[in-house]
Amino acid sequence: MVTCSAPGKIYLFGEHAVVYGESAICCAVDLRTRVHGQPGESVKIESVLGKTGIDPGIHPYVSAVIECMREFTSIKGVNIKIDSDIPVGSGLGSSAAVTIATIAALNYLFDCKLTLEDIAKLGHEVEIQVQGVASPTDTYISTMGGAGMIPQRTKLKHLDCEIVIGNTGMFSSTKELVVNVANLRESYPQVIGPILSTIGSISEIGKELVNNGDYASIGKLMNINHGLLDSVGVSSIELSSLVYAARNSGAFGAKITGAGGGGCMVALVDKAKTGTVADAINAAGGSSIITNTTEHGVLVESDQ
Ligand code: MEV
Repeated sequence: MVTCSAPGKIYLFGEHAVVYGESAICCAVDLRTRVHGQPGESVKIESVLGKTGIDPGIHPYVSAVIECMREFTSIKGVNIKIDSDIPVGSGLGSSAAVTIATIAALNYLFDCKLTLEDIAKLGHEVEIQVQGVASPTDTYISTMGGAGMIPQRTKLKHLDCEIVIGNTGMFSSTKELVVNVANLRESYPQVIGPILSTIGSISEIGKELVNNGDYASIGKLMNINHGLLDSVGVSSIELSSLVYAARNSGAFGAKITGAGGGGCMVALVDKAKTGTVADAINAAGGSSIITNTTEHGVLVESDQ
């Protein structure tokens, strides 16, 4: 049996704008999805969502990975078991992580010889097939790990500070939110276009700040980015309450991460203030997760 894992992610800057080719900065975080796989007689997929065969309703990403990989390799049967630290549908890249870890497990078991670039590319194709729309950001960062700038694929310096995530506990649909922004952009191109390109400019400026470890300035730009995301309709009262709770308790900055609408916010925090910020997020009705960025992208963890 092989076990492969892949990380979730947070966006420092650029979600939604990246769908229109603007720059984004995304970081892998130390929350992982593990896929245990072994060849079998038929396809069996097991997770907290249930036990199924190929089932696009319950296990859409794993089912799509198996179907896609069957186009270039013979996969008669396989037993897949998934466990994950990443809350599902919360903006932390759970779908990218399960997609990438599954591709890596099948790549190993069926000796497909896919490179990391191939895994990221196939992962992006699977996300598009399942969701209808997806930028390559989540799947690329989950494959490569670390902090990176998309679409340039530039690797940035490791962030040496803490990440505190606040989960609203509300499920959100990335597809729906991306469509809402697309509709708004179509209705008001002269208004929404510049907002999205300003978000792209924030990422461009953010690149140097990340490489210089200037967390105070990164935090200020995260706050601005949050306001711009709010203006295109992807925040919520719950998300903004957690964002303000984190800022008021001493975070460098805080914003939505991922598609918004529910899901999670992220705060960049000095190590000494982690507990205070996490407590403030909890007191404001969220569930805090204290984590770090990680350089580890997709990994083969064991083969026994
Ligand atoms: C979702 O994690 C991020 C979005 O920008 C969509 C995408 O990039 O595919 C909202």
